[in-house]
Amino acid sequence: MHVSVIDHPLIQHKLSLLRDRNTNIRDFRALCTEITMLMAFEAMRDLPLEEAYVETPVAPTRVRRLTGKELALVGILRAGLIMVDGILSLVPNARVGHVGLYRDPRTLEPVEYYRKLPSDISERGVFVLDPMLATGGSAVATIRILKERGVSSIRLLCILGAPEGVEAVRSTHPDVEIILAALDERLNEKGYIVPGLGDAGDRIYGTQ
Ligand code: PRP
Ligand code: URA
Repeated sequence: MHVSVIDHPLIQHKLSLLRDRNTNIRDFRALCTEITMLMAFEAMRDLPLEEAYVETPVAPTRVRRLTGKELALVGILRAGLIMVDGILSLVPNARVGHVGLYRDPRTLEPVEYYRKLPSDISERGVFVLDPMLATGGSAVATIRILKERGVSSIRLLCILGAPEGVEAVRSTHPDVEIILAALDERLNEKGYIVPGLGDAGDRIYGTQ
């Protein structure tokens, strides 16, 4: 298993704006979508290609196009929804599943309230999407649900991660690659990522 931090200047610049408490809701949403698209571009760098032939208006030519397992995106509600939108603009044919989890504010344990997954998800390469990997409870639970459905190819895409969350996923699901835009310092006593960006769901939906 490995953890990749995508240290691209465009992503890091957008992340500086995303972290800023003065960034408004409209910009926050747009930045989440843009960062996700840039991360997906890197995360999908190794998707397999096959050769094909097409005729351009000028001549027949050899081209390369995607092959291999089809993709599914699984967004962890609520905040993961914004990442689903970002990736769908790059891979519009991907199937989309949702897992609804909230963190119990007292125990920090994930509580499931919704689950809907594509029927053929076990045959697909799955990207699990959530902007925040804090204790890792939500990601670990979602990956467990997917494995119980027979999914064997899983990558976890999060904008920010804490070392505690990375370790939780790494120790429970060592086969799952974690892709982040930044690995932050730690969690605080309330389970928030430090320095982080605050509560992602609240900042996306204006519910703080
Ligand atoms: C946030 C975030 C993750 C989770 C991360 O969701 O979007 O799903 O916390 O924390 P963890 O790694 O400790 O599980 P939250 O529970 O606040 O729900 P929301 O997306 O509905 O706001
Ligand atoms: N969930 C969030 O939205 N933010 C954090 O910092 C931790 C969990």
